[in-house]
Amino acid sequence: MPSLDPVHGGTDSAPDPRYDFSSNANPLGPCPSVLAAIRNADVSRYPDPKYTELRATLAAHHRTVPERIVVGAGASELILRLISQIDGTVQQLVPTFSEYARGARLTGRKLISVRSPAAFLRAQAEHPGVGFVCWPNNPTGELWAPEFVSAAAAAGPLVVDLAYAPLCDAGHPAAIEAAAAGAYRLYSPNKAFGLTGVRGAYLITPRIDRRLSNAAPSWVIGRDAVALLESATRPRARTWLAQGMPQVRRWRARLAASLLQFGLPVRESPATFLLAKVGNGTRITAHLRSHDVRVRDCSSFGLPQWIRLSAQPPAAQKALLAALASAR
Ligand SMILES: Cc1ncc(COP(=O)(O)O)c(C=O)c1O
Repeated sequence: MPSLDPVHGGTDSAPDPRYDFSSNANPLGPCPSVLAAIRNADVSRYPDPKYTELRATLAAHHRTVPERIVVGAGASELILRLISQIDGTVQQLVPTFSEYARGARLTGRKLISVRSPAAFLRAQAEHPGVGFVCWPNNPTGELWAPEFVSAAAAAGPLVVDLAYAPLCDAGHPAAIEAAAAGAYRLYSPNKAFGLTGVRGAYLITPRIDRRLSNAAPSWVIGRDAVALLESATRPRARTWLAQGMPQVRRWRARLAASLLQFGLPVRESPATFLLAKVGNGTRITAHLRSHDVRVRDCSSFGLPQWIRLSAQPPAAQKALLAALASAR
């Protein structure tokens, strides 16, 4: 029987390393204004069980109605909730984020893994259920075409996971959000604002449907996450993000160039991360970890020769390259 344990290949139970390339969160984070809002949150009280103000703020930000906003304790919790609430198979475009497959395993659903948009559309028709498209895709960085996303949304139910969309070179293009209008859109601002330890995310549902919010435990997110989600919509946070992205792009380009120079094939993504082909991903990951550098072994993605790295500052890149050199 397949393991039900979470598989992330990066985060682990050991003390945090000095240099962490394994998380795709904004390497410039945490965003000061969002962090201040979290620190000011009055966590001595329960949050509003209906999250009325928060949902109104998020709805106004996305120009929709509060009844279509569903909050959750991170995108991972919402992924599991979606799978539990939508009957049938789970379809995914592999390699991709592990929680779609794990959600299928946890709920005993049949998992249909395909490798191309055409095969995904066929899988939706032949094996109805809920499909997941990650945009940009983790770990490969694919930006699926809006035409494909809208066709998959029409064939749905479809979830478009936009966790890294704000960290893309192009930001959130309106085209993908419009193409995903008929899908469940999943937002996880803790990545863009460098605060992944705060567990809050939200969905915009394609139509008003109480089922998903009613399926959550009461007070599913705390006041810290309410503060994160609310403050992430504010102009100060948005400006911080926009102003930081050119730096992140420079760090990613520098990392890609250094790895290539080191002799490693690289697959760069339009977001904060890239893939490097190192031979034995598991061995190199363990070696780097023992040198205080954490990377993401891609074996669990079905890419055993690759590791995933995020765009970290130059000093961290120097430490990574020295540790890689010592593995030769
Ligand atoms: C594509 C994607 N979606 C969702 C998540 C989970 O996000 P959250 O921290 O909101 O649970 C991750 C985390 O790695 C991810 O890579």
